[in-house]
Amino acid sequence: TAPIVRSLSELRGMTQQWIRAGERIGVVPTMGALHDGHLSLVAAAEKVCARVIVTIFVNPKQFNNPEDLANYPRTENEDARKLARFAVDAIYVPDGDQMYPDGFATTVSVSGLTDVMDGVHRPGHFEGVATVVAKLFAQSSASDAFFGEKDFQQLQVVRRMARDLDIPITVHGCPTIREIDGLAMSSRNLLLSDRARVRAPILFEEMEKIAEGVAAGGDFSTLYADAVKRLEAADFTKVDYLEMRAADDLALLDAPMRPARLFAAAWLAGVRLIDNIAIGE
Ligand code: PAJ
Repeated sequence: TAPIVRSLSELRGMTQQWIRAGERIGVVPTMGALHDGHLSLVAAAEKVCARVIVTIFVNPKQFNNPEDLANYPRTENEDARKLARFAVDAIYVPDGDQMYPDGFATTVSVSGLTDVMDGVHRPGHFEGVATVVAKLFAQSSASDAFFGEKDFQQLQVVRRMARDLDIPITVHGCPTIREIDGLAMSSRNLLLSDRARVRAPILFEEMEKIAEGVAAGGDFSTLYADAVKRLEAADFTKVDYLEMRAADDLALLDAPMRPARLFAAAWLAGVRLIDNIAIGE
């Protein structure tokens, strides 16, 4: 099983040897409560990289809601056990003081891509993400990083950040892993009641209906209105957004004129679910 590394100096001791040996280093940043979605990123990293670092850090800076931070599941022992099935070289679990010591004063902010969707509904969220991911890239000296399309806007923000800051790392986007009923795997699914868990896949079902309808030439706003009606009837209390956007720059589209995705965030029984799917693939 992989060693749990809690200090940056210890991590650097390891990566320096790997770099000297000319090995590719993959980093998989996570906040823990690992599920098969996270593990698919580890498997992808293993394929490309001789060395793999999984990071587990519940990053306070990206939580815009203190209650969400307090409730976020923390399952370190279980996480380490799940990772034992993979060729992981280090599980990096820094503590908060080490990531953000007294006097920490830098924020990484990506404009444009963060002006929409979760950038609007979760103020400060992507600054927190970009800041911690920039640190994790620097700390891990990784040549490759692995992110899920589950958080597609995050993936594009991270790509932009790495490019703009000339960080020499290849960012790999990996497909969303779903439960058998279609629900996108998420650590927050653990917070759903049994009753809400049964309804949760309706979000993906409605998104698929819209994607199929639009791909067949249907009108987005009609399909959208029907979907929102059915989501509300299925106890979704609020749809933060349900939008069709360009896959590359996230520009709003009303028809899939270029590679497009459907993005949604909606509340079910106090839990915020997000998902996105490609249109016409
Ligand atoms: P977390 O939500 O733990 O997710 C870690 C990585 O796993 C992200 O790249 C996310 O997109 C990916 N992931 C989550 N669910 C997935 C699924 N069902 N299928 C495929 N990939 C999935 O995202 C974060 O943590 C944080 O914002 C982080 C990048 C670690 C910065 O703090």
